Amino acid sequence: MNQHLPRILCVDDEPFNLSLLEAVLLPRGYDVVLAVNGPEALAKISSEHIDLCLLDVMMPGMDGYETCQRIKSDEVHQNIPVIMITSCTDQKDRIRGIESGAEDFISKPFDVAEVLARIKMLLRTKDLNDRLNAAYHNINKLSAFGEQIVTNFDPVNFVFLEKIDSLVAQICSKSDLGESPQFVIIGMLDQTGDCQWRHYDSANKQKVDRSLVRMDIDRKLAFAASGQLIVDFYNGSDTDSTAAPLVEDLKKHVNPVLNLVRYSNDSFCLIALNYGSEVTLYDATVLSSAVMQSLFLRSLAAQIRDTESAFEYTILALARASEANDEDTGDHILRVGSYCVLLAGQLNMPDKFVQAIRIQSTLHDVGKIHVSPTILNKRSGLTANDWKEIQRHTIYGAKIIGGHPRMGMATRIALCHHEHYDGSGYPSGLSGEQIPIEGRILALADQYDALRNSRCYKTGFDHETSCRILIEGDGRTIPNHFDPAVLQAFKSIDSKFAETYTLLAFRRDGKGL
Ligand SMILES: [Fe+2]
Repeated sequence: MNQHLPRILCVDDEPFNLSLLEAVLLPRGYDVVLAVNGPEALAKISSEHIDLCLLDVMMPGMDGYETCQRIKSDEVHQNIPVIMITSCTDQKDRIRGIESGAEDFISKPFDVAEVLARIKMLLRTKDLNDRLNAAYHNINKLSAFGEQIVTNFDPVNFVFLEKIDSLVAQICSKSDLGESPQFVIIGMLDQTGDCQWRHYDSANKQKVDRSLVRMDIDRKLAFAASGQLIVDFYNGSDTDSTAAPLVEDLKKHVNPVLNLVRYSNDSFCLIALNYGSEVTLYDATVLSSAVMQSLFLRSLAAQIRDTESAFEYTILALARASEANDEDTGDHILRVGSYCVLLAGQLNMPDKFVQAIRIQSTLHDVGKIHVSPTILNKRSGLTANDWKEIQRHTIYGAKIIGGHPRMGMATRIALCHHEHYDGSGYPSGLSGEQIPIEGRILALADQYDALRNSRCYKTGFDHETSCRILIEGDGRTIPNHFDPAVLQAFKSIDSKFAETYTLLAFRRDGKGL
């Protein structure tokens, strides 16, 4: 039931009749609004929250039928019950009244008890209709919210608290139906048993504000026991509610507590307080399903992140294995992955591409597993056959990685990272855009690191010398080997390459792989 007094609009051109209605209604706890004609009645319906209209039929100008028709053709106010008060008892007049949309009729002179009974019945019907509309509105609102968070679900960047913020904003969003809480309190227990309480306040604001607060609330009353779930509600003096014992603690922070709806498990608790009207099991169920969806997504995101982490770990393990025959490369594979990220970002490649190239580029030399360490570590005197065998690491690599769709980028990189933009590379002599973009990016990243890195058969160059060789050439390496756009990107951010090399140069700290 609404918490404001039911407001009844009485419309009559006779001041005496209005005074009579007022005298009947005011002492019975109704708020009364008066209008002396149809246009005034319509204006008051638009400007005031009217729950029911008592409408005289015979009025000069706009009569009761037309006034009623206008109320019922207005989408916002058509649910306001209209009782026509008429001295006409003719069936034709009653049919006209029904056609104009009136819910009921009272004949003049009216019987007070009858008027009050009909008002009570229609207000009850309106209240139920309002609840139904509010429920429909709530379901639509939360369904749209659920659809939106599932559509935009990004497990890698999923932040639970942000989702809870959005959920609370949805729960608290204002509507004409007034079925939203004024406050929301959230408690989250961490693994050490510490509890963080957050308080959301939507009072008189468009925006819901969240603050981290200290709360003196008994956790045993707020949270469910291990493995249990609590979905309950409380209204006013409802001492039978399972939520009632919690109310005294809540009153230390929110006073008064008019009503509440709660969802709790053993580590998370959401309490929505002071809805505009009484709460029911329906409100608790709606809240519960919305919270459970967010908790499910949190759990799903954690599982996906675990799987992704294991996936990356396996790729890096394979990449490290490929270095077994070629041991003086330090953290070459990690550095190359980082350079690729820098270049891809500078080239405005999509985020998904940048994330993929960071990890998949580490497998570029995996084919070296098949190449003899004697050849790989020769200080000088590579024969033509040795050189052919080294070149085959590209083909070996593509075969090892195989054709899984998730590893397509790694396969293309392994196969194409020694192709040159001018067509002078290997194994296929591809040129220009025949070489996949990830291959063109890796070619420069790999060459920069090869120039910087000391090997058994050469000393490394400093950053400036390496840049000069890449940009101007040294006879063996020439700028035409590289995609001009990739080379330009490198020139724009070469200092970041230097920082990355310094950070990851031979960083073997015993952690991870
Ligand atoms: Fe290679």
